[in-house]
Amino acid sequence: MRPLRNLWKSGPPVLRALAAQGIVFIGVVGLAWALAARLPFWTWPLIQGSLAAILAHLWGLNRGWLVFQVLLPLALVWQLGHALPVWIYPIALVGLLLVFGGGLLTRVPLYNSSHAAWRALLELLPAEDGYEMVDLGAGLGGPLSFLARRCPGVRFTGIEASPVLWLLAWLRARSVRANCQMRYGSLWKLPLGDYRVVYAFLSPAPMAELWAKARREMKPGSILISNTFSIPDAAPERDIPLPDRRDARLWVYRL
Ligand SMILES: C[S@@+](CC[C@H](N)C(=O)[O-])C[C@H]1O[C@@H](n2cnc3c(N)ncnc32)[C@H](O)[C@@H]1O
Repeated sequence: MRPLRNLWKSGPPVLRALAAQGIVFIGVVGLAWALAARLPFWTWPLIQGSLAAILAHLWGLNRGWLVFQVLLPLALVWQLGHALPVWIYPIALVGLLLVFGGGLLTRVPLYNSSHAAWRALLELLPAEDGYEMVDLGAGLGGPLSFLARRCPGVRFTGIEASPVLWLLAWLRARSVRANCQMRYGSLWKLPLGDYRVVYAFLSPAPMAELWAKARREMKPGSILISNTFSIPDAAPERDIPLPDRRDARLWVYRL
């Protein structure tokens, strides 16, 4: 029973969100059957979304998912009354999966480091040349392209699991190809032993596992910099507030 409960808690939140919609839908269908004539049509998706949001909240989903819960039934009902061409749905689904599909499984969606984070990273890089830095989950490649342009003597590598994002990052890094490569693949398969600086902007979910990997593979004296998400039970050497959001900071851990 316990492994099942752990899977439920640590698995992709989208499963809990959809399960909440499904359970609430059964109740709402019963209610609608009894009361349909007395309530305006638009109240039904609202009731569905609100109850699903409450259930999702009880199951530990965050505010973003609660908004998703409320909007999903409204969007579904809206599209019933608007005849969109049928091909839009599979194309939109494939497009979304290509960009965000990796995030569903890894629980690390795409969001970009700010320019303030890029500048703070530049300050943190060791002054000499000849070492390597990696961005784990390179996204659109913004930080690495910025750093590679300013530090021609350092070799930069980005690794990205989403094919569309990898392609965009690869195109973006065209002008700094001499010292910046974008690799397609999983960060978990990339050995970290060659990198003096490892940068990651992921999510709370993989931080403990990432720290275990860093401790196994990175050399003493090298640094792991995490944007926003700290590592549980590890003491940072520095933490640098960023002006972007209240919780935005760079956490610097020395191996
Ligand atoms: C929050 S974004 C950060 C993007 C970029 N590093 C930046 O700071 O602007 C995290 C990225 O990690 C990618 N990602 C998630 N899991 C991954 C994995 N296991 N291997 C490689 N990339 C992964 C996601 O697709 C996403 O593009």
